[in-house]
Amino acid sequence: MTTKKAFIFDLDGVIVDTAKYHFLAWKKIADQLGIEFTLEHNELLKGVSRVRSLDIILGLENVEASQEDKDKWLIQKNEDYLTYLVDMDENEILPGVFPILKYLKEKQQPIALGSASKNARPILEKTGILSYFDAIVDGNDVSNAKPDPEVFLIAAKKLGMSPEQSIVFEDSIAGIQAANIGKMISVGIGEEKTLHEARYVFQDFTHIETRFIDNLINKKIG
Ligand code: BG6
Ligand code: MG
Repeated sequence: MTTKKAFIFDLDGVIVDTAKYHFLAWKKIADQLGIEFTLEHNELLKGVSRVRSLDIILGLENVEASQEDKDKWLIQKNEDYLTYLVDMDENEILPGVFPILKYLKEKQQPIALGSASKNARPILEKTGILSYFDAIVDGNDVSNAKPDPEVFLIAAKKLGMSPEQSIVFEDSIAGIQAANIGKMISVGIGEEKTLHEARYVFQDFTHIETRFIDNLINKKIG
């Protein structure tokens, strides 16, 4: 009997280094509005939907805006963000990710994407890893943003696995909270001090050994 688990990956900041592009695009809007926006503020935006991100930025300095202006800035942010993706290829895949995806495939483990981004599919296509995913759940499929676990619960369901059988790789505080609320095993990718709510934290995927993956696969549930 083979043991199976659902391996669910966030996209931005986990598979690809796009978190920096989101930051640069938001920073332009913030500068335009005279709002101070630092890398520390940016942590609050990770894993958070585009609409909510704008509200958080405006909230930093209690800026009130009409819906018309908000819509305009949301379009501007995304158009600017997309310019960073034009030349994207497999070189933007973060270190250690590809070997882990390959290992999971070899072990016939179900793999899903669980991302808040509405740009997820083109990014997976451009980086050439779309075929590794048995299911894709992105910002177009969910109505409740992380830390609501909806995105991961749908992903687990699509893979035919229970939440308890699911492992989530995340770089955002909101995403770790979503996995925990959903009763999944949360694996933080990034700084321990930021992601201390995660069950496990690794600086990046190069620090994850296949033994760790094997232990997750073989872990008895319930
Ligand atoms: C998340 C990012 O993955 O997707 C957030 O961490 C981003 O920073 C969100 O705002 C929505 O992405 P997009 O591509 O739909 O604007
Ligand atoms: Mg992320």
